[in-house]
Order: sequence, then structure tokens, then C-alpha cells
Amino acid sequence: MWSTAYCILVVVLTTVQGSNDTWSLPAAPNCKTSELPGSVVEWRESNSLSYSVEWSYGNGTCSSLNSCFDLGLDDADDQRLDAQITPLHIQPGDQVRFFASQNMDIPFAIFPHRVDEEGFINCDISRGKPIVPQPSKEPIAVLEEFLRPGVNYFITNRSDTLYQCRFGLRVNITVKIQKCNGPGGDPGKCWNQGRCLTSPLQTDFQCSCCNGFTGDYCFEEDGCATEPCLNGGSCVDLKGSQAPKKFACSCPQGWIGDRCETRVANQCVDAPCENNATCIGNADDYRCECPHGFTGHHCTVNIDDCATDPCDNGICVDQIGGYQCYCTPGYGGHNCDMKYSPCRSNPCKNNGYCIDRKGDYECHCDAGYTGPHCTQKVNLCGPSACFNATECIDNGNTFECVCAHGFKGHHCEIDINECEMKPCENGGKCLDAVGGYTCLCLREFQGKHCELYREALHHRCNIGWRPDTRPGRSRHLLLQSSRDLQGFHSWKMEKRRLRQTN
Ligand SMILES: *[C@@H]1O[C@H](CO)[C@@H](O)[C@H](O)[C@H]1NC(C)=O
Ligand SMILES: *[C@@H]1O[C@H](CO)[C@@H](O)[C@H](O)[C@H]1NC(C)=O
Ligand SMILES: *[C@@H]1O[C@H](CO)[C@@H](O)[C@H](O)[C@H]1NC(C)=O
Ligand SMILES: *[C@@H]1O[C@H](CO)[C@@H](O)[C@H](O)[C@H]1NC(C)=O
Ligand SMILES: *[C@@H]1O[C@H](CO)[C@@H](O)[C@H](O)[C@H]1NC(C)=O
Ligand SMILES: *[C@@H]1O[C@H](CO)[C@@H](O)[C@H](O)[C@H]1NC(C)=O
Repeated sequence: MWSTAYCILVVVLTTVQGSNDTWSLPAAPNCKTSELPGSVVEWRESNSLSYSVEWSYGNGTCSSLNSCFDLGLDDADDQRLDAQITPLHIQPGDQVRFFASQNMDIPFAIFPHRVDEEGFINCDISRGKPIVPQPSKEPIAVLEEFLRPGVNYFITNRSDTLYQCRFGLRVNITVKIQKCNGPGGDPGKCWNQGRCLTSPLQTDFQCSCCNGFTGDYCFEEDGCATEPCLNGGSCVDLKGSQAPKKFACSCPQGWIGDRCETRVANQCVDAPCENNATCIGNADDYRCECPHGFTGHHCTVNIDDCATDPCDNGICVDQIGGYQCYCTPGYGGHNCDMKYSPCRSNPCKNNGYCIDRKGDYECHCDAGYTGPHCTQKVNLCGPSACFNATECIDNGNTFECVCAHGFKGHHCEIDINECEMKPCENGGKCLDAVGGYTCLCLREFQGKHCELYREALHHRCNIGWRPDTRPGRSRHLLLQSSRDLQGFHSWKMEKRRLRQTN
């Protein structure tokens, strides 16, 4: 169903293209034939039409007076407009459907809002209301209540990078009523063969009278019928007004006077140049020297700096004397020509590791930190960090345990074996303990390290212990098996026997 409607739209749009006529109604159309300038449309009294409006960029959009309203102006007189979908001109009773383009890279839904002119120009959805309850990927039939006589503005309210109102997703739909019905006339008809017409920038249909007639309904005779304006001046009939004159002339550049009969001394006096251009002229001619960013005969054309497609990976928006690229995610630079790594700005703090995720990034945090940017501190000195420590020191990404006496290891989990230093002498057996040791000495020895020898065993008057410093004795003599112990005893008996015999 809607594809038929689309065909109708295409037909309508193509018929109005290719004209080089001015945008105003023809002052005196040829009333003998039905030929009309291409961009001028005549009132349809009965049949209504269906239009489909494709919401997309490119083909269906426009951004200048000529391309939007088909005014057929010279390039020099054309003017830039905000990017928009080609405006639609309809009559009351015509049907309109909106549909989101199927030809965009990413399928998208539209959520049209009807807004006022300011909302249309500034892409501000707060200046209107949505016309459907929610965004839709299906065609939307626009209800009649949203198509009021006059100008109706619709914009989408998407705000992501690509699908934006200000890049063209907005449309100006004018519902034109007819004002041709004079008293006693036929519906939609003007008197004296005048025709009920509209041109692109008009918001209603009005009578266009044949030569010799004037007035809203072509009732009155025309003060301009004698073509009183000279040198290309255009004539306005004044009969309806109180003025004594029957007509007024609007003179072309360089001419003044009631009938445009007098040449001006310098054509620059009318300040024909716009946008602060410099005017250079004399009685016969003038030219405008345009400031940077403008061109055209009157410097009215903002040079389209986007014409060369300077944005490699983004959308170009023309500005005065330059352009701005809006880059697709993952690209940067004036022309969106730099592949942009989101990790370049080092978003992951405290030694966190950044992973590039196609335009986005993800932080893998080092020990001691958490959170999307590794800025939240995690206490590394939790209850299970150290086993037998007096203190735990959190250094950010690492921690240190200050071990209690007798412990070692990163977590102070190792009980130091003090017997490894072999502290017990004279065959004493070492028993490890927390933070120390005990020596179990052989019978003849005593002392913490079994270093005292029971020397005076046989000198009753002088019983005591003294260090075993006899010559030839190793301080660390170790006797561990019982056989060694026996040998040790017999060595000592022999020593003692020798001493007694002496
Ligand atoms: C433009 O206007 C001229 C003269 O009025 C006419 O001969 C020509 O066919 C027109 N061109 C188009 C494309 O309508
Ligand atoms: C514009 O649309 C018409 C009709 O749909 C198509 O034939 C033409 O190729 C399109 N042009 C561009 C530049 O997309
Ligand atoms: C679009 O408009 C609706 C309501 O009007 C709002 O809830 C939603 O957040 C808007 N979406 C965007 C992307 O602005
Ligand atoms: C919308 O279109 C009408 C003519 O149909 C025109 O007068 C009006 O200026 C346009 N609005 C904008 C904002 O371009
Ligand atoms: C023209 O120049 C004046 C002052 O130099 C400035 O205020 C104004 O904005 C300019 N107008 C344009 C259209 O550039
Ligand atoms: C060493 O740690 C263990 C386990 O945490 C605990 O049971 C023991 O009492 C601690 N010893 C000392 C001497 O702190």
C-alpha cells in the first residue's frame, strides 16, 4: 500500500523539478493555455493524494532554497537552509506517511514530534509533542490533527551521533488552503479566468489574475494593465488602496523614479551586497567583493565547504568559511581521519590495564584497586593477609607483612626453625619452638647450648660446671648415635685415668 503512495510522491517531486521559473506567482499567467511554471501548482478541487516521506539522509534531503523549494534561482541568489527532508506541500485531506529509511547503515526507528518553527530550526523537541506513542520502525500514518492548515514542522528526537534532526531528519509540511473563493464564485475558482495557484514559498492558494484584472478574486480592473513601469520594474496595482495613484513600481537595481525612469549615480547606494561585502560601483554597474566564506553575485551564498566530502569517517556540517566534522565513534581529528584509541588518554588509573573495545574501553585493575577506572581502593590488609604479623602495610598495588618474632614469609606464614642454625653443642638435641629452641643436653653437659662441662665430678670440694675448653676439643663436637656416645665416655675415662696416674 505504501509503496504505491511512494510512487505518487516520486511523481509529484519529479514534476516540480527542472524548472527555471521564479518563485512568485506569475503576475499574468497565460490565460489562454493551461501552461504553468513547473514549481507552481493549481488547486485540486476533488481528488486527494497520498504522500510518503522517507526519513533518511542524502537523496531525499536538501539544504538550500533551490534544492528545498525548487525556486530555480541563479546560484548567486540561492541561499543555504538548514539540512532537512525535502519540504512537502499538500492540500487539506491529503494523506501523509512517514517511514524510516531502509537504506541506512544501521536500521533505526523514528519518533517524530510536531514542533513549532523554533523547534524545527533548533531541533528542540521540547517545543512540541510526539505524534505517535513511541519510536517506530514501521510506517507512520500522520493523523489529520497534526496536519493543520499552514506550516507544520516535524522533527525526530534521536540524539545519538548519527541520526540527528540537525543533520536533516526534519520536515516542513505546508497544508495549503485555497483563498480563491470570492463572493458568488465557484469553489476553488477565481473570477475572469484567473487561476487558483500556489508557489513553493506561499502557504496557501491564491488567485492569479489574467491581464487587466486584479484583486483577491480577480474582480477589479488592474492599474498595471498598461505596463507603466519602465526598465524592468515590476508593477503593483493600487486600486484597492486609498492611494491616488493606480499603480506602484518596484524598480530594479540602478533605477529609481515613479516609473523607474531615472538612472542612479552609483549603483552601490542601494547597498546590494550582503554579509558585509564591499561594494564597488558606478552609475552603470557594481560588483560585490565577498568576505571569506561567501560567494555569489551579492555574496549571499555560504560556500559549501562540505562539497569536497572532507570528513573521512563522519558527517560534515558546513559553516561560514569552514566546516565541522562530526566523527563516527572510534575516529577523531579535524577530518575524522585519525583512528582514535579510547585507551590513549590512559583512563585506567593505578596501574590498571586498558583494553580497546571498538570505540569504548574496559579497565582491568591491578591488585589493590577496583571500579570502572580503577580508582576505588581495595584494602589489601584484610584479616587474612598476614598470618603471624605485628603489622600489615598497604602500598597501593602490594602489601607487606611485618612478621612477629619467629615467623617469616610474605604472609609470615612460616615458623622459623631456629634449630637449623645448630645452636646445641656437645651432642645436645635441639627442639624447635616458636621464636626460639631448647637444647636437650647429654648427661655431662649443661647450659642453654650444652656448653658447660661437668668437670668437677670427682673433685668433691669443687663441684661445678665450666666451659669445656680443654685442648683438642671441638666446641661443636656432635655425638648423636649411642655408639658415638659410648666412644665419647671411654675417651673421657681414659683422659681421667691418665690424669689420676700422673
Ligand atoms: C527556462 O526559461 C527559458 C525562457 O523563459 C525557457 O526557454 C527554458 O525552456 C526554461 N528552462 C527550463 C528547464 O524550464
Ligand atoms: C536518488 O534516488 C533515486 C530514486 O530513488 C535513485 O535512482 C538515485 O540513484 C538516488 N541517487 C543517489 C545519489 O542516491
Ligand atoms: C524522545 O522524546 C521522549 C518523550 O517526548 C523522551 O522520553 C525521550 O527520552 C526522547 N529521546 C531522546 C533521545 O531525546
Ligand atoms: C516551511 O515552508 C514554508 C513554505 O511552504 C516556508 O514559507 C517556510 O519558510 C518554511 N520554513 C522553514 C523554517 O524553512
Ligand atoms: C558585519 O560586521 C559587523 C561589524 O563589523 C558585525 O557586527 C556583523 O555581525 C557583520 N555581519 C555579518 C553578516 O557578517
Ligand atoms: C600464628 O597464626 C596462627 C594462625 O593465624 C595462630 O593460630 C597462632 O596463634 C599465631 N601464633 C602467634 C605466635 O602469633
